[in-house]
Amino acid sequence: MGIYAVTGSASGMGRAVTEQLREAGHTVIGVDLEEADVVADLSTGHGRTQAIRAVLESSGGRLDGVVLAAGLGPAPGPDRPRLIAQVNYFGVVDLLEGWRGALAAAGGAKVVVFSSNSTTTTPAVPRRTINAFLAGDADRAVKSVRLFGKVAPSIIYAGSKIAVSRWVRRTAVRPEWAGSGIRLNALAPGAIMTPLLEKQLSTPSEAKAIRSFPVPVGGFGDAEKLGAWVVFMLSDNADFLCGSVVFVDGGSDAYFRAGDW
Ligand code: NAI
Repeated sequence: MGIYAVTGSASGMGRAVTEQLREAGHTVIGVDLEEADVVADLSTGHGRTQAIRAVLESSGGRLDGVVLAAGLGPAPGPDRPRLIAQVNYFGVVDLLEGWRGALAAAGGAKVVVFSSNSTTTTPAVPRRTINAFLAGDADRAVKSVRLFGKVAPSIIYAGSKIAVSRWVRRTAVRPEWAGSGIRLNALAPGAIMTPLLEKQLSTPSEAKAIRSFPVPVGGFGDAEKLGAWVVFMLSDNADFLCGSVVFVDGGSDAYFRAGDW
């Protein structure tokens, strides 16, 4: 049985993964703002350092897998763009850098990062936003999407997820990762029924945009089933999966990008 860390373990898809791993007999160290084994705020450098340390202590310095599900959706709010940038990008990258040694120690560890199909379906995300994230500059990333004094939450959200997907692909193939037996991949869901989506659907303007978005199979995805995808990506069956971004989105990515490859 393995030892896993799951961020965002208190709700939605992170919670579903946590429950499924525990039911299978694994040990899970959950990380979240509340109701978790490790309570930490991943929107701050201090909180991320606390989470890294606490998980390394509880796991004894060996992790068979990690799931990065903590994230914030593209809701409006004055401080929201900064929080989205901090949690969705740095809350993944900083933690994985801090845990790399523990993952290597397991020899065959698996990592699943939550991306989103907004990466390929959101138009006009500036290249400079992605570059700012990859350069580690959250302030510049947020400023880069400011138009007429305002930041569109959907653009910084998609930017954070594009950047994290690109980081996954670049990092997964490095000798310190692939060569240490670590399999690093991303899952890119479409609209999945979780508290995050429920909140968006309770705002009329957001609900209209979500309901009119093309989803070829119709409806919304199920958090438990997405959890099962993650569990599969953590299993030995995924040994040959490296640097992939797996879309589970009811066909929206295919609908928009059928001719891309
Ligand atoms: P959720 O809102 O149900 O769960 C997210 C969890 O992250 C919550 O428990 C929350 O407390 C935690 N979190 C947020 N900010 C945090 C912080 N500063 N520090 C520590 N923990 C924090 O969301 P859901 O839907 O399960 O989303 C999981 C991941 O999937 C997120 O990264 C999200 O962006 C992504 N995603 C979700 C989609 C959806 O339709 N639900 C679609 C595409 C991607």
